[in-house]
Amino acid sequence: MSFNPHTTATLTQYLIEQRRRFPDASGDFNALILDVAMACKAIAKSVAYGALADLHGNHAADAGGSINVQGETQKKLDVISNDLFIRMNAWGGHLAGMASEEMDACYPIPEPHPRGKYLLVFDPLDGSSNIDVNVSVGSIFSVLRAPQHVQDGAALCDADFLQAGVAQVAAGYALYGPTTMLVLTVGNGVAGFTLDPVMGEFMLTHPELHVPEETSEFAINASNSRFWEAPVKRYVDECLAGKTGPRGKDFNMRWIASMVAEAHRILMRGGVFLYPRDTKDALKPGRLRLLYEANPIGFIMEQAGGRASTGHQAMLHVTPSSLHQRIGLVFGSKNEVERIERYHAEPAQLEGHTPLFAERSLFRTNA
Ligand code: AHG
Ligand code: MN
Ligand code: MN
Repeated sequence: MSFNPHTTATLTQYLIEQRRRFPDASGDFNALILDVAMACKAIAKSVAYGALADLHGNHAADAGGSINVQGETQKKLDVISNDLFIRMNAWGGHLAGMASEEMDACYPIPEPHPRGKYLLVFDPLDGSSNIDVNVSVGSIFSVLRAPQHVQDGAALCDADFLQAGVAQVAAGYALYGPTTMLVLTVGNGVAGFTLDPVMGEFMLTHPELHVPEETSEFAINASNSRFWEAPVKRYVDECLAGKTGPRGKDFNMRWIASMVAEAHRILMRGGVFLYPRDTKDALKPGRLRLLYEANPIGFIMEQAGGRASTGHQAMLHVTPSSLHQRIGLVFGSKNEVERIERYHAEPAQLEGHTPLFAERSLFRTNA
């Protein structure tokens, strides 16, 4: 059963409607988003073929897998997805360059392709540890403007990507789940599209997505609890205490280990996601990456009425310091994220005076 194209907008139609807000727009931006969508469709196809096409497992399996700049073993599909993003977006003339989780340094658009005025930053496959167990994965992307000196012809370098999240022109993700979806913001709300596999088109199925402000569902990797900072411990303790605790209601918990899938659940039914800064590894201030994970998801959340934060400050106001910078990330239903920010802002000495935390902490190390 396909959607009726006469009654349902395609991604192309949606983009044309959005462009009407900018009568002087050249069309480059829309063409760029359609190229990104094409990359996502090609990745969806590879993900769907999986083991049938020998696409599961580690890249360079005979060598036990190659290691990316993050120090993580690359899956075959990490590398394939990265190549597809590069291939589908390098030729169009809309980009000055790209940066990706899977590439150490930025990728300036090579000759003979024309250079454009945008930058594309992406996580080609998020949640790739889930590939071999056939759980949802996705792609995350962010569009920035190339700085003027680059548009004027200067060579592109990593520093040109170090723009705060508020500078994003667009952000989105594709989710390769039971259906393939594309969720997009061009700075005017958030829209969700479902891939019609017969027509090969993303159809507008979820216009105007909105994150409910209230929730009783949270997502965090509890195996890290001994490394959490006090405000996070307090927040989770209070959720776990349920009806009889300070929150006065029971909470549910989910952890998929594909942030893109968690973000989608939260867009659909609310919730809060935490991958906070912790003390597990002094060299890693958080697990997730600012430029191609936290910022695009943060932009989407804020455009959908939710919130994204480091715990200490609004995510979109962080000035990046490096291409692969990691950061603590909290996002989702506004009231919960603001509560977590309040807990971070409260003076540390309060910690010992919070009755639940001090006397009944479920995660006290000496409990
Ligand atoms: P990636 O596959 O792009 O490296 O990202 C995986 C991320 C994110 O999607 C997920 O939320 C998190 O890693 C899972 O971390 P844990 O394995 O610590 O649960
Ligand atoms: Mn990721
Ligand atoms: Mn990835």
